[in-house]
Amino acid sequence: DWTMAAFKDQAIDAVRKQVGNGKVICGLSGGVDSSVVAVLLHEAIGEQLTCVFVDTGFMRMGEAEEVVNLFRDHYNIKLIHKDASKLFFDALGDEIDPEKKRKTIGGLFIDVFEEEAKAAGGADFLAQGTLYPDVIESVSFTGGPSVTIKSHHNVGGLPERMNMDLVEPLRELFKDEVRELGRELGLPEKFVGRHPFPGPGLAIRIPGQPLTPEKCDILRKADAIYLEEIRNAGLYDAIWQAFAVLLPVRTVGVMGDARTYDYVCALRAVTSTDGMTADYYHFDHEFLGRVTNRIINEVRGINRVVYDCTSKPPGTIEWE
Ligand code: XMP
Repeated sequence: DWTMAAFKDQAIDAVRKQVGNGKVICGLSGGVDSSVVAVLLHEAIGEQLTCVFVDTGFMRMGEAEEVVNLFRDHYNIKLIHKDASKLFFDALGDEIDPEKKRKTIGGLFIDVFEEEAKAAGGADFLAQGTLYPDVIESVSFTGGPSVTIKSHHNVGGLPERMNMDLVEPLRELFKDEVRELGRELGLPEKFVGRHPFPGPGLAIRIPGQPLTPEKCDILRKADAIYLEEIRNAGLYDAIWQAFAVLLPVRTVGVMGDARTYDYVCALRAVTSTDGMTADYYHFDHEFLGRVTNRIINEVRGINRVVYDCTSKPPGTIEWE
């Protein structure tokens, strides 16, 4: 009968057959899907695999280091870590339109990836973490079969441009099966159980204002505190996705005997089974108060915190 261990062996065989002595390039984001693809391919073809991690500058706290530590240092995978944050900030300029931001980030991501792949000596195959839901529905995460609510930069574009054959070992799997495969491959629980994170990252969590490295730093700190408290409270696995949003609004506050005039941070957490619909997460008020105090005391630039009680629909999970 069917087991994940058997699937793993078959998938490794299939990759070896498809790739032969060819070279494979794989974009690594630190998310579950690309992490599983990278480790599976490394087990199948070792040195024939090169991974590229494009750091857009919109990653969460410590994320780039974690990826490098795990894949390069622990697994010994050939990994190119490209810090491209300046390119991304320059390309975005003062843009605040959500769709234009996604298009700019997605386009530049492909340019940078392509350049790094070329610099690494090129490849015969491109590996992708395409899942079964992506195969049956090209706009899997928007929830709409005909209406594109938000463009998705991880799917499409790259293969056409790069003119390479695709290696997609997860094409038959659903998300929970990918996680199981990840465990079978020995990936740490922190990677396997990770919440989804959108390709454009923090750039779509700073709405209505030009993006700057300073604003990203403020948001990164608030987000890290929030997630740390969620983990400490043992709530991480019960939540589909949780994150902070930095609003373009400043409000008046008091700190000691001084008046402050700083930004508002919104906290979001939802439960969901597929991201198509979602309920806001019902934290107890004590928890929310604790996170709020920590953020205001520890993050300069934020003096007020609010919690988002919108479900999907009518809201989306992200704010833009
Ligand atoms: P929404 O906000 O549409 O999000 O309810 C549903 C799921 O998709 C993620 N999401 C994205 N993922 N690129 C991505 O790779 C994007 O542009 C993007 N926009 C939303 C979102 O985080 C949630 O998991």
